[in-house]
Amino acid sequence: MANENKPIHGVWGSRWVFILAAAGSAVGLGNIWKFPYMTGANGGAAFVMMYLLCIVAVGVPIMVAEVMLGRRGGMSPVNSMLRLARDNGVNSRWAGVGALGALSGFLLLSFYTVIGGWTLFYVWEMVSGALVHASATEVQGAFDGMMANVWLVLGGHTAFMAMTMFVVGCGVIHGIERAVRILMPLLFVLLAVLFGYALTSDGFDDAVRYMFAFDIAKLSGASVLAAVGHSFFTLSIGLGAIMAYGAYMPREVVTRSGQRKPVSIGSTVLAVAALDTLVALVAGMIIFPIVFANGLAPGEGPGLLFVTLPLAFAEMPLGMLFGTLFFVLVVCAAWTSSISIAEPPVAWLVEKGFSRPKAAILIGLLAWTLGIGSALSFNVLSDYTLFGKTFFGLMDFLTINIMLPVGGLLIAIFAGWIMKETQARKELAMKSFGLYMVWRAMVRVFAPLALMLVFAFSLWQALAPAGDAVPAEPVVDEAPVAPQAERPVEGDVPAAAGVPE
Ligand code: PHE
Repeated sequence: MANENKPIHGVWGSRWVFILAAAGSAVGLGNIWKFPYMTGANGGAAFVMMYLLCIVAVGVPIMVAEVMLGRRGGMSPVNSMLRLARDNGVNSRWAGVGALGALSGFLLLSFYTVIGGWTLFYVWEMVSGALVHASATEVQGAFDGMMANVWLVLGGHTAFMAMTMFVVGCGVIHGIERAVRILMPLLFVLLAVLFGYALTSDGFDDAVRYMFAFDIAKLSGASVLAAVGHSFFTLSIGLGAIMAYGAYMPREVVTRSGQRKPVSIGSTVLAVAALDTLVALVAGMIIFPIVFANGLAPGEGPGLLFVTLPLAFAEMPLGMLFGTLFFVLVVCAAWTSSISIAEPPVAWLVEKGFSRPKAAILIGLLAWTLGIGSALSFNVLSDYTLFGKTFFGLMDFLTINIMLPVGGLLIAIFAGWIMKETQARKELAMKSFGLYMVWRAMVRVFAPLALMLVFAFSLWQALAPAGDAVPAEPVVDEAPVAPQAERPVEGDVPAAAGVPE
């Protein structure tokens, strides 16, 4: 039986390690970069509420399903799904769910590390004090200059890929567990320090208003769907990363008093989702006060993180120190996410007989090569487009708007409709039958419907003529900002990388 197999890749030291690893996966560029902007642009509190609802009603049930399939399968997503398909007497093509996940992970990894490279460069920009007292034009120039510099972008991409693959290559316990045990506490300390700083800043009240001022009029159908899409991207569902991490989750732990305690998937996933949401909210409460205190406009995507915020750091007292801390935080968040994105394809190669370091090097090299296309999309290849998108834009759209929703949908269908109920119930071992029934209804009906809507919407957005598409620009004019004298010009940067539009 599948559930008696010991995972070949290792088992996390405790339930907490799973929480750290899964939260590390979930907390990434999506939280620090995209969520704050989306909140402001989509109606503040109305959007936050919608997002929270989506996390609870769509994200958490699918995440529970994904972890459950992983723990039951005990292997890489491809082989876990194969095993589960056999166990349940269905066509082994269901292994395709795992393969699709590994493929989307591979594609996502290829450009996530490009953006990861930018964040590394910005740590350097902050530490070196290069931007201290720089003007808006200079800060924008630094960003444009970085993007135009092929070698710099490729160097960052290479370094970030190497960092990621080094950890994955060291193994689940010696690599990933060790990394998240250090990086996640560091991330939380940095977050707390920066939040403390933001609390004392003049812009805090404006920021609270910007993010939480209830304005139902701003909440359109598009923003509701954006909330659904973002909720499962931010929780890292649909790609197999969480399934792989679930495979390494222990079934029981021995408490200090020597008692055996079952590890509940439901409550563990809730803890991860709560951490992810908390980080997203706190990231907004760090970024916007700094932006508003300096009289800037909130901007969008890369503009917010890589131009507006550095400009604020350039002007404020101790900006060099806090700017450095901030970008170290972003690096930690992106790093623990890219590690989880790389794990499914690497684990699969290991099961095919490769040694882990070799598997990591191979996947790293292949993803790195593909990533060159994305890295060059901002400079030499920027004029080459297909369907109006650069190579980077295409990869971004394909993985996040198409492959992730499809992956999430298939996971929900397998867990809700295909898997034998007795198996699912045993693996979840929920204490409350009522809660179990709620989960089942969510995973069978509500979540698939929501995902189908997101998917249809993504397609419509892609195929609709430009005028019909949802505006990507936030309504910056309505933001409670002080005089916008020095608003940085938003350059020709992509709307969002690694995040659904
Ligand atoms: N959740 C990560 C973020 O918010 C991205 C991610 C998606 C990681 C899918 C793993 C799998 O940036």
